[in-house]
Amino acid sequence: MGMGVISIRAIDGEYPRPRSTSIYEEWGEMAPDVRDMAITRWLIELTQTDKVVVPAGDLSAHAVWYGPTPGSRAINIGISIVNEFRGKGIGAIAQRLLAEELHRQGIVRVEAQTDVENIAEQKALEKAGFKYEGTLRRAQGRADGLHDIQVWSHISS
Ligand SMILES: CC(C)(COP(=O)(O)OP(=O)(O)OC[C@H]1O[C@@H](n2cnc3c(N)ncnc32)[C@H](O)[C@@H]1OP(=O)(O)O)[C@@H](O)C(=O)NCCC(=O)NCCS
Repeated sequence: MGMGVISIRAIDGEYPRPRSTSIYEEWGEMAPDVRDMAITRWLIELTQTDKVVVPAGDLSAHAVWYGPTPGSRAINIGISIVNEFRGKGIGAIAQRLLAEELHRQGIVRVEAQTDVENIAEQKALEKAGFKYEGTLRRAQGRADGLHDIQVWSHISS
């Protein structure tokens, strides 16, 4: 891409989040036991043409179990791009990179969910090779109430 190369690297829980705001990240009060959720994180980095590396966003991933067997374990990913870097194709590239990395680790089903009104993320998921599967009604509570959520998946070949 013209402005440089996008890469992702694993980071630990303490690593500060790149600054990012949107209506889809106004969570309100967190569930106390959400801290028990095992989340892995990746930093999205842009290596500019002058070789300077800047943080462009971050990704998270957590396991979702559809049954008690190893084959029933999917990974659900989330993304946030730093405001000034949005709309440049970075979200699509980063989600494709993470889906491919998780497939290399043996995960067949990588899923992502997004608000029915979040057209930017729906387009980014499609460009990243995800397929729309359906809509979960009233599945996500944020500061302003409950929202319908689309589910998308990226399946290893
Ligand atoms: C959603 C997000 C991850 C997408 O990443 P991105 O790098 O900005 O997206 P891309 O540039 O890869 O693609 C975005 C596409 O949506 C389009 N788009 C952007 N904002 C839009 C809007 N408000 N309405 C319609 N289309 C929009 C872009 O034009 C682009 O489409 P195109 O390829 O046809 O031109 C990023 O915008 C973001 O971090 N948003 C805030 C947090 C968030 O919503 N995270 C996802 C929660 S599930």
